Amino acid sequence: MYRSHNCGELRASDIAKKVTLAGWVQKSRDKGFMIWVDLRDRYGITQLIFDEERTSKGMMQQAQKLGREFVVQVEGEVIKRASKNPNIPTGDIEILVSKLEILNTAKLPPFTIEDETDGGEELRMQYRYLDIRRNPVKDNLIFRHKVTQEVRNYLSKNDFIEVETPYLIKSTPEGARDFVVPSRMNEGQFYALPQSPQTFKQLLMVGGMDKYFQIVKCFRDEDLRADRQPEFTQIDCEMAFVEQEDILNTFEGLTRHLIKEIHGVEIADFPRMTFDEAMKRYGNDKPDIRFGMEFGELNGVAQHKDFNVFNSAELVVGIAVPGGNSYSRKDIDKLIDWVKRPQVGALGMVYVRCNDDGTYKSSVDKFYDQDDLAKWAEATNAKAGDLICVLSGNTNKVRAQLSALRMELAEQLGLRKSNEFAPLWVIDFPLLEWDEDTQRYHAMHHPFTSPKPGQIELLDTNPGDVKANAYDLVLNGNEIGGGSIRIHDKETQSLMFDHLGFTKKEAKAQFGFLMNAFEFGAPPHGGIAFGLDRLVAILGGQETIRDFIAFPKNNSGRDVMIDAPAPIDDDQLKELSLKLNLKS
Ligand code: AMO
Repeated sequence: MYRSHNCGELRASDIAKKVTLAGWVQKSRDKGFMIWVDLRDRYGITQLIFDEERTSKGMMQQAQKLGREFVVQVEGEVIKRASKNPNIPTGDIEILVSKLEILNTAKLPPFTIEDETDGGEELRMQYRYLDIRRNPVKDNLIFRHKVTQEVRNYLSKNDFIEVETPYLIKSTPEGARDFVVPSRMNEGQFYALPQSPQTFKQLLMVGGMDKYFQIVKCFRDEDLRADRQPEFTQIDCEMAFVEQEDILNTFEGLTRHLIKEIHGVEIADFPRMTFDEAMKRYGNDKPDIRFGMEFGELNGVAQHKDFNVFNSAELVVGIAVPGGNSYSRKDIDKLIDWVKRPQVGALGMVYVRCNDDGTYKSSVDKFYDQDDLAKWAEATNAKAGDLICVLSGNTNKVRAQLSALRMELAEQLGLRKSNEFAPLWVIDFPLLEWDEDTQRYHAMHHPFTSPKPGQIELLDTNPGDVKANAYDLVLNGNEIGGGSIRIHDKETQSLMFDHLGFTKKEAKAQFGFLMNAFEFGAPPHGGIAFGLDRLVAILGGQETIRDFIAFPKNNSGRDVMIDAPAPIDDDQLKELSLKLNLKS
């Protein structure tokens, strides 16, 4: 037996027990006549004590040799600790060691393995297995396990069956590039790793599985951000014989269950907002509704004077920053510089100070009088003491810019409280989205999403106006899930591919298997997929998903620990019938 107890469980009630512990040396303090060692494992830290009076000389010498991260096994007696440590659960006791065995030595770790570490991100990623020994990382992984377990509990209780689907498949169009895998046995042919199990889960509905879920890896070759990894995990779900309402209720239930189980918080309100409304009120299809600062559109009250910047704009829109009138000229200039950064891209910003005496002072006083500015204040819901920030230009661009400013200011003002949870459904997404690069319509969600009833006809005349039976689940300003009611008949699916610019031949080659299946009694069905990494990070009060993934990739998509991706040798290339044509 390696251990009788773990390093986090012994208490004063265990005093006088003979125990065996095993773990890592977190640190040791050597006073010559007395040595204290902090022994660590996943469960906690227990203090070991060796002293001249009670410990043999040989063991004292052995204890002196213990370095950080040595792996040891000790036998000893639980004794009362002389100076208690109220900061740790085992702080009332210590172990008077009677037997010490060094199970393994360790090189000096490249960074300190403590809650606060001196290791930079890259170094910690390179030695991720050491980073995982640290509480913040370890706790995040345990937290992830807890959330995942609760997801499984809820879905299993609600009759969902977990089914695995293949990883070596054919391209599924979720909007990113595929990672591809060459096939040795089929020369010149490639599998694609799934961007999601979308088509398979639909086929499971045709197969009569009725309610499916899978906690599953998905692969997308896209630009990385704090909330994106090239391989990430979905809670992928599908249900047959359902309408949108059934899906929203089921997964609202899952979200409520998780927040209740994890944080003990009952979600009182689970609002729904159409895509159009979200764009108008927050400039964003994943609004953070934990705070106000809603958009006020100002075209009607700002385009009647000689201010050409506004007159020529498609949209003039502002937000009121609570207490922002206290900003100095320098603070405001900083905000203006912030919105002019290329990442945001605004050309400038107009501002209005709302003075305590009810008067206004703006950067465009030359053009607008107090009555005009009062109307702006009304439209943006600005109070005395606030600052109104106004941007103008192309509707989509200016909404994105002001939305970025709204989030930045909320961050600065501490309005994005990580212990508050404000979920929301965004519904009625457009079916199609115009893509400037390819000059074509793309499916906004994916090509299997059904248009709203009665809107198919609009596809010929106003494709951009067609709304879909598609929905996103937003939590604290992050898209944590998305799904739709699917097309389940061959004709509509084929029509959809036509509108997306697929030739009949292309559609058949790529999705013939799905359309064939639709001819064998496909039930009406729909579903959703949650981004598990994002969900876990947000429930954990954070937004960087890397911190909740055991072995994440860095921003260039590399695993710096195992050093992947890496070249493969010529023999392997040959076997796969691949020839590299590298530029340099
Ligand atoms: P969608 O593409 O919206 O839908 O993805 C579902 C959810 O997955 C998460 N997500 C990601 N998380 C981390 N890194 C990424 N690169 C990444 N990409 C997406 C998001 C997102 O909401 N098959 C459909 C679902 C359906 O229709 O049922 C799908 O994959 O949280």
